Amino acid sequence: MSVDSIATAAYLIAALLFVLSLAGLSKNATAKQGLTYGVVGMTIALAATIGLSLHDSTARGSAVVVLVVAVVVGAAFGLWRARVVQMTGMPELIALLHSFVGLAAVLVGWASYLEVERGGLESFTGSLLRIHHAEVLIGIFIGAVTFTGSIVAYLKLSAKIKSAPLVLPGKNLLNLLALLAFAGLMVYFVADPASWPIVVATAIALIFGWHLVASIGGGDMPVVVSMLNSYSGWAAAASGFLLDNDLLIVTGALVGSSGAYLSYIMCQAMNRSFFSVIAGGFGVEAGPSGVVDHGEHREITAEETASLLDSASSVVITPGYGMAVAQAQYPVAELTRILREKGVDVRFGIHPVAGRLPGHMNVLLAEAKVPYDIALEMDEINDDLADTDVVLVIGANDTVNPAAEEDPGSPIAGMPVLRVWEAKNVVVFKRSMAVGYAGVQNPLFFRDNTQMLFGDAKTKVDDIVQALQRVPA
Ligand code: TAP
Repeated sequence: MSVDSIATAAYLIAALLFVLSLAGLSKNATAKQGLTYGVVGMTIALAATIGLSLHDSTARGSAVVVLVVAVVVGAAFGLWRARVVQMTGMPELIALLHSFVGLAAVLVGWASYLEVERGGLESFTGSLLRIHHAEVLIGIFIGAVTFTGSIVAYLKLSAKIKSAPLVLPGKNLLNLLALLAFAGLMVYFVADPASWPIVVATAIALIFGWHLVASIGGGDMPVVVSMLNSYSGWAAAASGFLLDNDLLIVTGALVGSSGAYLSYIMCQAMNRSFFSVIAGGFGVEAGPSGVVDHGEHREITAEETASLLDSASSVVITPGYGMAVAQAQYPVAELTRILREKGVDVRFGIHPVAGRLPGHMNVLLAEAKVPYDIALEMDEINDDLADTDVVLVIGANDTVNPAAEEDPGSPIAGMPVLRVWEAKNVVVFKRSMAVGYAGVQNPLFFRDNTQMLFGDAKTKVDDIVQALQRVPA
C-alpha cells in the first residue's frame, strides 16, 4: 500500500471521527466521548499530514522541521490556555481561536497565490487557473472577515473595548459597498491576477469583518461567537480547496454548517432574525427603554430563604452568569441534594443563552454532578413555573426579565425568557441592583412575590446549606 493511500484512509477515518465527535457533543451524557473522538481524529489527521510531508520528495527538510515545530508550539499553547482558562473566560478564548483560523486562511490564500505566480503549480492553466484565482480570493475574504471579526468579538467579550454597537451613518450601505467592491475585484482578479486587486480585497475584507462585528450590540454577542465559529469553518474549507486537502474541506464544512445551525437555534432563542444577524445590523432595532420607577424591592436573608425552601414542595433553580462568576455550582449541587433528600421536587430551568456561551450552565452543573434528568430546557419548564413554590434565580438577570414579554420598547423585547415571576415565591441571588449583560433594568426585582438575597452567590448558597443542615429532618 502506498503512503498516499494510507494517508487517504487516515483522513477518511479522521473525518468519520469528527462526525462522531459532533454527534457525541450534542448531548450532556455523551459529550466526553464526543471530545475523545475529536482528539483521536485530530491526532490521526496531524500524524497523516506529517507522514505525507516526510514522504514528499519535493518538500525541503526545513519545511518539515517548521511543520513539526509549529505543531509542538501550537499544541503547547493550546494545552496551556485550556488549563488556565476560567469557564467565564471561555467565549473570549473561543473568539481568539477563531481569529487564528481566519488568519491561517488568509496566509494560505496568499501563499497559494504567490506559489502560482512564481510558476510553482504548472498544472494550473486556462479555466483551472481562473478557478484557482477565484478560490484564492474567496478564501482570503472569508479568512480576513473571520480574523478581524473574531478579534473585535474577543475585545468586546473581554471588556477591552465597549460592547455597545458602533453605529456609523449608512452602515448597511457601507457593508453593501464593501461586498460589491469585493465582487468587482474578484472579477478583475480572475481575468488579470495582478497583485493590487488581492491587496485591496484583503484590506476591504479586514475592514468589513471589523465593522460587521463592531456594529453588533453586547446582548447579541452569543450569536456572533457562534456565527464566527461557522465563518472559521468555511475559511478552513476554503483553505482545503487551495491546499487540495479533502480532510480540511470536510472538517471545515462540518464546523461551518454546525456553527450556522447553532447560530440559527440561538437566533430563535433570542428572537433575532438569522438574516439580520448575517447582515451584522442586529441588536439595535429597539432603543433603550426609558427610566421607569419600578417601586421598592424587598430583601430576604439566607436563614429565611432556608425556611422558605424547607416548607416548599417544588423548587426550580434558574442559574445564570453570576453562578459561573461565583463558582456557586458546587454548593448549589449540595443544596439540591439536601432538598431532594427532604422530599422536595428540585429541578433546574436552563435558558439557552444563560451565561456567556452555549451550554455554559449545563457544563457547570454537570461538573458539580447535578443529575442530567433534572436540568430542563426553558421550553420544558416554563409551563410548570406557575405551579412552583419557590424559584431561586442564582446570578441570572436578562434571561428572567419580564420586560422581554411585557415592554415592546425594551432592547430585549421578544427574547424568550424563563417566566419565573409566575411562581409563588422568587428569590433573586445577586450582589446589587445592577443591570445584567444587556444593560436593562429588571422589573422582576420589584414584584410582590420577589425577594432579593444580596451577596456573593456561593457564600449565600453555602449559608443556606448550613441553615438547612441545622433544621432537623
Ligand atoms: P446576566 O444578565 O449577565 O446577569 C448576571 C447577573 O449575575 C448580574 O445581574 C449580576 O448582578 C449577577 N452576579 C454577577 N456576579 C455575581 C456573584 N458573584 N454572585 C451573585 N450574583 C452575581 O446573566 P444571564 O441571565 O445568564 O444572561 C445572559 C446574558 O448574557 C444575556 O443577555 C445573553 O444574551 C448574554 N450572553 C450570553 C451568551 C451565551 S451564548 N450564553 C454569550 C454572551 C452574552 P450583580 O452584579 O448585582 O451581582
